[in-house]
Amino acid sequence: MGIIDPTACYSLIEEFTLGRDVLAEMAESFRDEMTRGLSHSGRASLRMLKSYIGLPTGNETGEYLALDFGGTNLRVLRILLEGQGKYKILKKVARPLRVEGEYNYIGAGSEAETLFDFIAVLVDEAIEGNRTDRFFLGHTFSFPSSQTSLRDATLISWTKEFATGGVEGRAVNELLRLALEHRGIKNVLPVAVINDTVAVLLSAAYRHGDTFIGSIYATGHNTCYFEPEAEAGEAPMIRNLESGNFDIVPQNRFDMWLDAHSEKPGEQLLEKMVAGRYMGELFGLALAELLGEKGKVYPFTSVDISEIIRDETDDLLRDGKNLNTKMTQACVRQPQSHFKSAAIISNKTQKEFALEDVAMARELAAAIVVRSARLVGASFSGILGHMGKNKETRQHIAVDGSVYEKMPLVKEHIQATLRELLGAAGDNIDTLLENGGSGLGAAIAAAMAEK
Ligand code: BGC
Repeated sequence: MGIIDPTACYSLIEEFTLGRDVLAEMAESFRDEMTRGLSHSGRASLRMLKSYIGLPTGNETGEYLALDFGGTNLRVLRILLEGQGKYKILKKVARPLRVEGEYNYIGAGSEAETLFDFIAVLVDEAIEGNRTDRFFLGHTFSFPSSQTSLRDATLISWTKEFATGGVEGRAVNELLRLALEHRGIKNVLPVAVINDTVAVLLSAAYRHGDTFIGSIYATGHNTCYFEPEAEAGEAPMIRNLESGNFDIVPQNRFDMWLDAHSEKPGEQLLEKMVAGRYMGELFGLALAELLGEKGKVYPFTSVDISEIIRDETDDLLRDGKNLNTKMTQACVRQPQSHFKSAAIISNKTQKEFALEDVAMARELAAAIVVRSARLVGASFSGILGHMGKNKETRQHIAVDGSVYEKMPLVKEHIQATLRELLGAAGDNIDTLLENGGSGLGAAIAAAMAEK
């Protein structure tokens, strides 16, 4: 006998299941919200931020510095653009922004100056202390920021539970310039700031062409696209939707709980339903309820979820021929089991799981992931709808991020949702992993700024 009641579990899974009609409605309101955001008429949860950069030709060349700031890892790269979509990484340095028990530059209590001084140290490592050659730097800054030019961006509001003091409302390249100066680095010139989605789009457009939409599906989530309609006096440019903030979303009670207990309640509602930063928490919350501990959040991460889904324990359960019952049961009951999912679940809940419980938990985890992928697919469909007849064009949607790259079920469910919502036109679109796009895109932006 397991400890999870299957009826209760299926009813929870139901709460995480979204049918076609709900998604079609969401895609429609996403499209309307884009129009509202672009026309500045009234309040819109899609910010449609201007990037002041268009698409690259693929022939940009030269050596540039790329600073990639947006997740828990900070990276600085020296990249040589060779043109014709080719490039070489000459140097890469990376450091976490938070090390448990040692330092934390991104939590409440940390300050802008210390954070940017740390960034300057990494830039220094990337240029190997060189104080003579001139380096143009492209800066991927992956938070909602307002821009009046490509050169700088003002942070509107932290997301992804970042909370460093003194950065909101400030121009980030200005903070970077001050920190570089403070370290005596005068030969590094920050010339462009872009969102990571913009970086992914630039990178994919540089390498493959036929790409007009760029997205990040990782710790956070967001999408940008190339808007051919320009405002008076401006050139057509990429718009950062800040789609994680889209708020006409089919939230369930777990989403509402999670939002209410987050750093910024009421903000980033779509992101809180889909991104890697939150999926583990949703699972931990729902599983706690199933195990009679409502209101508790078992500390699962999205990496745990992907391990649980990938595990084949319940396939073994279904397929009697492959099941060596004695061995399997023993493994499930011991945290050191080679069945990873059982080990993860019992470790995080401190409860003993039977094989059928693991199978149930796995279905719950899968439901949360599939919902996430379907919501992202619906948002892509909204953007393609906005692009009108251009959606008929064969094209890629470039996506980067750990969830897209590593989480089982994600790719196929985005694609299936596009097909479900767009019909045959969905077959013209494929999603493409643009690995490392944040760094390459920053270098391309620096090249385009200096042209
Ligand atoms: C930020 C976006 C960013 C996304 C992915 C979101 O939390 O608001 O600017 O593109 O995360 O990193």
